[in-house]
Amino acid sequence: MVKLATGQIPNFFSVDKVQSFVKNFARLNSHTNSVGNHYHGIGPDHLGYLFVKKQLLNPILDYFNITAELVFAFYLDCVAPIGPHCDMHQLPGPGEHWRSFLIPYSVDNQTSLCGYASTAVLHQWGYSAIEDLPDLDTNLLPYQADLFSHVSQDVCKKFSLCHNAIWHPGDLIYWDSKLAHLSNNFKGKGFISKQAIVVHTYLSH
Ligand SMILES: [Fe+2]
Repeated sequence: MVKLATGQIPNFFSVDKVQSFVKNFARLNSHTNSVGNHYHGIGPDHLGYLFVKKQLLNPILDYFNITAELVFAFYLDCVAPIGPHCDMHQLPGPGEHWRSFLIPYSVDNQTSLCGYASTAVLHQWGYSAIEDLPDLDTNLLPYQADLFSHVSQDVCKKFSLCHNAIWHPGDLIYWDSKLAHLSNNFKGKGFISKQAIVVHTYLSH
């Protein structure tokens, strides 16, 4: 099995710093998708790009000692738990996907509740359609009731768990953008929403 990068760095940003990101991003126009999740985003062409590069992207790239570029970054206000997917978004220029980063902030807009959310990183990667993946003997079904009740049994059978990253404000959760990942079902625990900053990056050619 190919091992792609994933991990969680505790307290990468201070909670005050994440709060300032949330405040600044929340002022931007937002896009609401079909299930009601709000995305307040900034790409390389945006007026706020230099702020994002200096305050958010550069500290991450310095840590990993790599030169990578921003695909886009956004403040996510999520009301519908997200199922398994890869972050293969269109790149702003020639290159290849690198990593996606998630900085947890809050659940129901309260940092003290943040630990009720998690991002689960899976072993499967780079597939074009979930239906094409084989059913696995070791799969997500044992976790379905507790974590993934928003995902059907049929889909749970296609994936295996690499790392369930419990949210903590200011941590840096990351994965290779080609790796599948999903939300836990925070709604099943009685919560309404969760908030985080997300950054997608690529290596330009
Ligand atoms: Fe994602």
